Amino acid sequence: MRIEGVSKLFGAFQAVRDVNLTVGKGEIFALLGGSGCGKTTLLRMLAGFEEPSAGRIFLDGQDMTGVPPWERPVHMMFQSYALFPHMSVEKNVAYGLKHEKMTKAEREERVRGMLDLVQLTQFAHRKPHQISGGQRQRVALARALARQPKLLLLDEPLAALDKKLREQTQFELMSIQERTGVTFIVVTHDQEEAMTLADRIAVMDKGEVRQSGTPTEIYEYPNSRFVAGFIGSITSFDGRVTAVEGDLSRVDVPGLGTEIVARSVAGAPSGQEVTVALRPEKVTLTREKPEGPNAIAGEIKDIAYFGKDSLYRVTLPSGGLIAVHGVNAKRAEAGRPDWYDKVWLSFDPAAAILLTE
Ligand SMILES: Nc1ncnc2c1ncn2[C@@H]1O[C@H](COP(=O)(O)OP(=O)(O)OP(=O)(O)O)[C@@H](O)[C@H]1O
Ligand SMILES: [Mg+2]
Repeated sequence: MRIEGVSKLFGAFQAVRDVNLTVGKGEIFALLGGSGCGKTTLLRMLAGFEEPSAGRIFLDGQDMTGVPPWERPVHMMFQSYALFPHMSVEKNVAYGLKHEKMTKAEREERVRGMLDLVQLTQFAHRKPHQISGGQRQRVALARALARQPKLLLLDEPLAALDKKLREQTQFELMSIQERTGVTFIVVTHDQEEAMTLADRIAVMDKGEVRQSGTPTEIYEYPNSRFVAGFIGSITSFDGRVTAVEGDLSRVDVPGLGTEIVARSVAGAPSGQEVTVALRPEKVTLTREKPEGPNAIAGEIKDIAYFGKDSLYRVTLPSGGLIAVHGVNAKRAEAGRPDWYDKVWLSFDPAAAILLTE
């Protein structure tokens, strides 16, 4: 699917602004963004329920302008997927085939295959209220896949599920996608879900795509403060580049009370104001002063213990705070940093993200 310069205006309100994206065959692509950023509107244009105000959408090279939803090889699973409460699981799935020209035997065969795919064969005769939320989710998915679309658009498919079930269903969704080879575009506002599910992600804000790329690219190489802050957590500081020495730059960061060494980025020459973003898991906390650059003294102010790991908030000499993540590999580790301990923080130059936008 190729999306070229697509915009959508509702009156004077711009819901989607100049979106350019290409989604490859068999890919799971996530549209990620906060509430109201235009995710559903973009999906509805892909499905044909809404015409773009500008731009064009191509599927398999074919321009979709003016092609009605039912003639597109696309199926959209809505944000609140509606199963028919009075129909059995089997009938719900078969409903997706209502408009297909098929014999009864072909239809039954298709439904059987779909139920098998989503592992609900044994529940074929139950009604939606007699199965769990995750199972209902899979019925909706089976119904959507029954027509064998080339492209399946899923709007917040897992939002109704609790955390555990959502994680489990994420993996099922991925395995179903792998087995069918159907291209998935999944809308979510949950960044972890996008990271888990998707081959590539587009991060949206106020109708615009701010960055698209693989989960690793987006997480490790965010292009802006917005994306860095939206995906994962960061502590950011204002700084100014004082020297660029090839791959490494020196950056004066008053908030850290020192000059640091960071990996150089394009567009940040000497003198450039930058934001230095540090992710909690990329900062190491030690009692002794470490060798090398980027060693900063601090004092532990807060500890949030999560069991498998802890999040420390450390006061810096400048008075600022930084979040540092520690893994609790050992049980009741002796000498684990405690409240008000004086500690050292350090990070690799490559771990400091320099942002100019
Ligand atoms: N038919 C419409 N007329 C006017 N404004 C609309 C219409 N549909 C959507 N909008 C507005 O466009 C913006 C984007 O809406 P959209 O439903 O695409 O958001 P979303 O990213 O899917 O949000 P959510 O995560 O809450 O579902 C919102 O500000 C919404 O109020
Ligand atoms: Mg929506």
